[in-house]
Amino acid sequence: MMKESVALAMLALAAAAPIPAQQPSIPAGDPHKGRRDFQENGCYACHGTVGHGGGWQGPKLAPDPLPYEAFLAQLREPARAMPAYSREVLSDADAKDIYAYLRSIPRGKAAAQIGILNR
Ligand code: HEC
Repeated sequence: MMKESVALAMLALAAAAPIPAQQPSIPAGDPHKGRRDFQENGCYACHGTVGHGGGWQGPKLAPDPLPYEAFLAQLREPARAMPAYSREVLSDADAKDIYAYLRSIPRGKAAAQIGILNR
């Protein structure tokens, strides 16, 4: 009985403890400059002007962009058909701004909230 309550208390403590530094880091960046960089570096041509995806050319990037580390890795060493963006072409600072822009793109309305889809 006593043992159980101690174990429960420890579980509760563990659940309340902050999650250690495994959370993906979110770099600071300038979303306004990032928006410009996204256009000027041609990202929009394949991924759409608001990162909504361009059909076969490039997947959706926003809302909810993938973690920054994976984002940067894709720029430097793309998985498949995407052209690589080296540091000389696109600095780490520019990449952070683009990431901030992608994070700033709001989620669209849910289908249930769009009248014409619910007649
Ligand atoms: C010529 C078309 C093209 C351009 C330009 C382009 N991409 Fe891509 N991108 C792709 C394709 C295709 C993929 C799918 C993976 C692959 O082929 O490497 C992709 C994948 C990605 C992914 C991974 C998405 C995921 O969910 O896995 C990110 C992030 C990304 N692109 C960001 C960018 C950014 C930022 C730029 C501009 C600096 C850019 N891309 C420019 C075509 C493009």
